[in-house]
Amino acid sequence: MNITRVAIDGPSGAGKSTLARNAARTLGYLYVDTGAIYRTIGCYAWSRRLDPKDGAVMEAALPDIHVDLSYGEDGLQRMGLNGEDVTEKIRLPEISLLASAVSAHPCVRSFLLGMQRDLARKNSVIMDGRDIGTVVLPDAEVKIFLTASPEARAKRRFLELEQRGTPAPYEQVLREIQERDWNDTHRAIAPLRQAEDAILLDTTDLDFEESRKALIHLIEERAGA
Ligand code: DC
Repeated sequence: MNITRVAIDGPSGAGKSTLARNAARTLGYLYVDTGAIYRTIGCYAWSRRLDPKDGAVMEAALPDIHVDLSYGEDGLQRMGLNGEDVTEKIRLPEISLLASAVSAHPCVRSFLLGMQRDLARKNSVIMDGRDIGTVVLPDAEVKIFLTASPEARAKRRFLELEQRGTPAPYEQVLREIQERDWNDTHRAIAPLRQAEDAILLDTTDLDFEESRKALIHLIEERAGA
């Protein structure tokens, strides 16, 4: 059986998860949201009141952290943390910056590397994150760098939070996006960057349907799917 691995990287709020999940369903691939894995570690730091910026503290905590990634009957990815289902909890806004902070530590990244690679060994996958094309799956058959301007991403996140019933001021949403962009692109290890062989897909001026079609077209073209 031929396995196709699609790596999608890009900054937060570019619509990676929604678009990648949708494309995976259309193409019959497994969808892996790696941000959810870092969020699960952030959730642990939050629940234990650990300083997520302290690498030594996080390294000492790792042996006590058991992360479980599974798929529900609806096919959606679920995250477990030491036996507790944290799928919903990891989406709390306060977990976003914690996830970004814990993801800067080399010990955390190497702790999660094997788990991510294993998922792509047996299945055709669409995996999204920040370093999938550069570090996790450097030999992926298809690499896409999915991005949009910070303002376009902030506007989408602002509307999403409003719809979810947890509104936040646009300026604050934009500031948080800029802060995470800075963290994710400036960390010493596996910073967010476009792999040399990745195709750029900029969705600033595209609506969801246009972005969805563009993504599927790119994957089919490159993977010969
Ligand atoms: O995609 P997301 O917003 O759910 O990711 C949460 C944080 O996890 C993000 O700020 C950076 C980090 N992350 C990472 O460092 N590497 C990945 N492959 C995925 C996410």
